[in-house]
Amino acid sequence: MAKLDGKIAVITGGGSGIGLAVAERFAREGARTVLVGRRQQRLDEAATRIGHGAYGISADVADISQVRALFDQLARVDLLVTCAGGAIFGAVDELDPSAWQNLFKARFFGQLNACHYAVPKMPEGSVILLCSGIAGRIGFPNYSGGAGLCGGIDAMGRALAVELAPRGIRVNVLSPGLIEDTEIENNLTDEELARFYEAACAVIPLARPGQSTDIADAALFLATCEYATGLVIDIDGGWTAS
Ligand SMILES: NC(=O)c1ccc[n+]([C@@H]2O[C@H](COP(=O)([O-])OP(=O)(O)OC[C@H]3O[C@@H](n4cnc5c(N)ncnc54)[C@H](OP(=O)(O)O)[C@@H]3O)[C@@H](O)[C@H]2O)c1
Repeated sequence: MAKLDGKIAVITGGGSGIGLAVAERFAREGARTVLVGRRQQRLDEAATRIGHGAYGISADVADISQVRALFDQLARVDLLVTCAGGAIFGAVDELDPSAWQNLFKARFFGQLNACHYAVPKMPEGSVILLCSGIAGRIGFPNYSGGAGLCGGIDAMGRALAVELAPRGIRVNVLSPGLIEDTEIENNLTDEELARFYEAACAVIPLARPGQSTDIADAALFLATCEYATGLVIDIDGGWTAS
């Protein structure tokens, strides 16, 4: 018997990158995956690639009414993984603060919105995996709002783990370092991105970026280890340890 046989997994951001890799891993372990993103065609293509009964529901996680409508369509949720969102970079005195507010709407409140509507549908034994990023632990220049967001998700994950433990729901946080094979939206030019990668790889102990499948490995562990809750797992090639 596969590890997630019969489970329903809702994965926001499941149409690409980390969310897609998690969905593929969960589906291989028997879960039926529901992929959430804004672009239906991207979700449909991802669902076809995943198979195992995967399907997509389009919703913008920043819009609470769309998130409510999403979960209204689901009778039960066993696994919730919240990977939807992008990144934005800018100096604190240059980037318009509304850009950080929009990032929070999708990546912070998007995860909170999903938890709000998913939890009533989650039976005992269910699991929530939030997604932050190591910027919550180490200081990156030009990422002040994103860093605050990541730290906020880590804190929210611990709070929810304690709050939901009496209901038999475990909550953990995936905290990726630099993951290269995704389609993450950001506002850097190709040259700026190349410089960022070069500088990062010079300080990452494993001296290379990770792959979305590395995050999927951690997600499967957190989804199946029944004594794991309240964890923030940095999957970052040792970056935060250095
Ligand atoms: N890649 C990294 O190095 C890295 C590092 C740390 C943290 N992270 C975080 O990990 C998560 C996954 O990122 P990724 O690298 O896998 O990027 P990705 O390939 O762009 O995946 C993000 C997915 O989220 C969806 N999405 C974005 N905004 C949304 C919204 N408002 N509502 C619903 N869906 C939305 C996108 O699809 P649509 O555009 O079709 O909606 C996309 O499929 C993000 O939160 C990212 O910030 C990534």
